Order: sequence, then structure tokens, then C-alpha cells
Amino acid sequence: MKVEAYQQCINPSCALKYPISVSRIHCERGHLLDVKYLGRFPKYLKDAFYGRRNYGGNIYNESGVWRFRELINFAQIDTESKSQCAKFLVSLDGAEGRLSRPYKMTKVAEFVGMNPDNLLLQPEGYNPSGSFKDNGMSTALTHAKMLGVKRIICASTGNTSASAAMYASNENIQCDVFIPKGEIAPGKLGQAFQFGAQVIEIEGNFDDALAASIEEAKKTGAYTVNSINPFRIEGQKTIMFRVMEYLRWVPPDWIVYPGGALGNTSSAGKALMELYEWGWIKKIPRLAIINSEGANTLYTLYNGKYNGVELRWNKGKVDSEFINRYYQYMDKNNIRPKTDATAIQIGKPANILKALRSLEFTKGIVEQVTDKEMYDGMSIVGLNGFDCELASGSVPAGIRKLREQGLIKKDDIVVGILTGRQKDPNVSVKYHLDPSNRFANPPKKHR
Ligand code: F0G
Repeated sequence: MKVEAYQQCINPSCALKYPISVSRIHCERGHLLDVKYLGRFPKYLKDAFYGRRNYGGNIYNESGVWRFRELINFAQIDTESKSQCAKFLVSLDGAEGRLSRPYKMTKVAEFVGMNPDNLLLQPEGYNPSGSFKDNGMSTALTHAKMLGVKRIICASTGNTSASAAMYASNENIQCDVFIPKGEIAPGKLGQAFQFGAQVIEIEGNFDDALAASIEEAKKTGAYTVNSINPFRIEGQKTIMFRVMEYLRWVPPDWIVYPGGALGNTSSAGKALMELYEWGWIKKIPRLAIINSEGANTLYTLYNGKYNGVELRWNKGKVDSEFINRYYQYMDKNNIRPKTDATAIQIGKPANILKALRSLEFTKGIVEQVTDKEMYDGMSIVGLNGFDCELASGSVPAGIRKLREQGLIKKDDIVVGILTGRQKDPNVSVKYHLDPSNRFANPPKKHR
């Protein structure tokens, strides 16, 4: 099945279009871009996707991303042709998205005050590089390969760089990663080195690293693989597709993600908008985005905590000047994001406009949690035999808080996305050595 695809500016009053064959992250007026498809998608594809779980030696069926290839067919290939898939689609031997689907976790359910059947958590850490990033990196690299790119570039709090480096090395593409010096988990930094990326250390935070990497990309023509790249977002939509497929395309009441640069918020919203438009889902689940208290720009702006104004997408007439004023206020008062959850230590989320669009479509909400709450959230996931990193601990922590506030009701169905696995074992060790921590399990001396 082939469809026509193109790129389009997200601002409805601008809506400039570009072919798939160009690489840019903004329209010429500076707005983010979407990948768009002409036409609707027939519902019988649901059966085809389900059938591909018995993948019969085909890695594009095995992949939890490319299993849904008709819905993200920006490469405009014949999706049934194995040779076309092999020629165009970038996959790590079918591993991206393969193991991630919703799981019940009874101890987490008890912790958040829910019935164990109503809470599902999807561990995206079980991707080949250990985070959800592989979903979008396989599609971004597919686009890069279509364009004959020789060098990709990104800024990262660690997981993006690990994933970019892994996919780039597999495709023989050079990879430069800009990271905030001393602010990323050692396991993530180790991956960038291990996979042969060139690490460039920035004296500053992720926001500074992103600005520097975009500048470098402009100068050198390197291909940006951060989530402002619309082809990354296409791959990340499959996280939502896997959730919906597991639930037989009957959406839950809530979908909960951590909020960092807000690529996930953007991709989840886009996936839901499309599925709803095509008539694949009849109900729109609400997105709940959880910020760390120490890096809470979305929480602050969305909930009117800065100058009392609640920032909204407003059908595309969003007050970007207000966002800029808040960023200037942050700079002037030296408000820097600070949290132990370095993955989401981000002050100026690059996808904020797309995220606002997602929140508007889903009647979403934004909450914040403390580091301590995230530690407990991470640890209770561990006690269910699943592994996640501190930033992902924001999800159980956030669900618990929203349950306490009564926003999430007792009988609601909730799906939370655990975005990455633990890549700094010292975080877990430190937690468990301190008996004052809620779930601490300190070692005993022998006799
Ligand atoms: N969880 C983990 C484990 C992450 O690594 C990130 C982002 C997020 C959540 C936030 O997701 O940006 O879509 O809102 N990490 C990026 C990186 C920034 O560079 O690895 P988001």
C-alpha cells in the first residue's frame, strides 16, 4: 500500500508545504513541521498489524515500529514488498518497539491507589538502546538515508545520543552528539562512545546544547535527529499504536508521559488525532504530562503559574510572545532547570507548540512531581520486576498525585509510558542504601 506524503507547517494560518525529499525542521517563517499523509487508512489494516506479530522471519513485521509501516509510510514504498522494506527502512534487526507493550503491575497499582486491572505501564526501556528514542530514531534515520545523509547530529540528555549513535553506526553514518558536560548518566555517555559517536561537551544545560547543535547543523548541513525533526515524531507514534492495539483499539481514559523536550507529548497527540480522524478510535483519551518540579516550564505556563495566564494552543493562535517573555524572565533571573532526573532537565522544551496542540485535542493536563516522588515511583516499578530510570519514575508518581487529587477516578483506565531503563545504577544503589527511603531495601550484615 502506497500513500502520498508531504511536510506541512503546523501553524494553520501559515500551513506552508514541503516535499518529503527536503530536510528542514522549520518552515521559512520558523514554525515546526508535521509529516502529513493524503487519504484515510482502512481499518482492515488492524488485522494485518495483529497478524504480523507472528512475524515469520520478516524483521519489518518483528519491529514494533515497522509493523505499523502503512501508517508512517513517508518513504512511500510498497509496504508489502520485503525488498523495498529492506532497501528503505532502517531497523536494528527488528528490535525497535518489539518488546514494548502494556503490562499490569500490581504493586504500582497499589502505590497509586488503583485497581490492578485498570493500570497498565509500557516499558519503552526495553528497546535496543534502552529507551523510547529507538522508535523515532529508526524513522529519522530512514529519512536521512533517503536523502543520502553522511552525518547526523543531535543534542541530548543522554538517551537520544545513545540511540542516534547506535543507529548511525549500524548504517555507517557519522554521528555528532552535543551533551551538557557532567549532566548525563554515565551509562548513556558510555553508549555514545561505545557506538563511535563524536561527543561534544557543552558548558551549559540541554537547552544550550540544542542551540549549539542546531547552529552547527546550519553551518555544516548535518542532519538533526532531535525530536524537532518531524520524522522522529512519526516513529514515536507507534508507542501509541502499540498501546491501542493491546487494548483492541478501545482507548483508555488517560495516557501518562513524563515531559521533557515534549516530543512524546507531540507524537502521542498526533497519533491520537490521526486515529480519531480515520475513525480507528471512537474516544479521545486525556494526556497527562508530568514535569519534574525542578524543570517545570510546561507546568508553569499551562497552569497559569507565570503572570496568571494559562498558555493554550488556541486552535493555532498561540501566544508565542508570552513563551519568549517567560524564557527571557528565566534567563534574567538565572532560573536553570535542576533535577536529579537529568533526562528531563530541560528548561525550554523545543516542541512546546506541538505539545500544546496535543493537550488541546486531548483535554490534557500537566502536573509536576518532586525528585523524591520520582525516586519512589522508579523504585516501586522495580519491585514489580521491571526496570526504569528516574525520569520515568515521574509516571507512577504523577498518577498517584492525580489519583489523590481525584482527577484520575478510581475506575478510570490508565496507561503510563515508562520511557527508559536505568542507565545509572548508582541511583538505585544510593536509594536502597538509605533506610529512610520509602521502598529502601538496604543490605544486611552477615550474622
Ligand atoms: N524520559 C526519558 C528517559 C528521556 O530520555 C527523555 C528525553 C524524556 C523522558 C522526555 O521525553 O523529550 O519527549 O518530553 N530525553 C531526551 C534526550 C531529551 O536527549 O535523551 P520528551
